[in-house]
Amino acid sequence: MVAEKPSKKLFAVKLRVWRQAGPSAPGAFVEYSLNTVNPDMSFLEMLDVLNDDLTMKGEEPVAFAHDCREGICGTCSCTINGKPHGPGQGVATCQVYMRAYRDGDVITIEPFRAKAFPIIKDLVVDRSAFDKIQQAGGYITARAGSAPDANAIPVPKGDADLAMDAAQCIGCGACVAACKNASAMLFVAAKVGHLGVLPQGQAERDRRVLAMVSTMDSLGFGSCTNQYECSAACPKLISHDFIARMNRDYMGASFRQMFKAEAASTGGGAG
Ligand code: FES
Repeated sequence: MVAEKPSKKLFAVKLRVWRQAGPSAPGAFVEYSLNTVNPDMSFLEMLDVLNDDLTMKGEEPVAFAHDCREGICGTCSCTINGKPHGPGQGVATCQVYMRAYRDGDVITIEPFRAKAFPIIKDLVVDRSAFDKIQQAGGYITARAGSAPDANAIPVPKGDADLAMDAAQCIGCGACVAACKNASAMLFVAAKVGHLGVLPQGQAERDRRVLAMVSTMDSLGFGSCTNQYECSAACPKLISHDFIARMNRDYMGASFRQMFKAEAASTGGGAG
């Protein structure tokens, strides 16, 4: 005899979803009731069900960004009940499950709010500002297609671990959305940090931190006031210690740049 699977008890939630037809259209919260929520659904699957309902009724589905649906790509960024990526800790929106909610809950879903992340539509924001920061210096100079042997450059274990901690950043923007100043310091610090602790990242180290910080400043992100909301909201739990590390790097690079400029103007220099 085949044992019957216990049936999951479906429940109902009320959704308040930010709807905005385009970048310059006025936006507002619209309420929807969903009565067949399975606790094992992911949050994005729940939005899929909502969109199926809306489509069947001939209404415009809710635009939301997603790709990997497994916490890797960082596109599924939205704020759920006031918290970027919702109720979990160390997870992205796509890794939130509906078992985190109860029958009758009201769930407010809105896009990441920041001047540097303009809304494209509904829950989708333009985060190309992050790409610009990355393009300013988030790379090393190496010939493509000629990867050296992994053991050719010894890296101390502690440095390798630290670099991996920083490299976990998926560029989702939760740090910006969580910060009252919409600061991008945690994102930039992670990108600067992960190359800055490795021997391969030393050649561009000063240039990288100066360029990435000045690009960040030019794109409308706010300043860090050490509230650490960024680390708390980060789906990869990246530590705010990287911000202190970046500030030290930035100061050192600024002094070196100043001394070099002074030496050049007075005709001095190393010699
Ligand atoms: S969809 Fe890729 S991190 Fe959520």
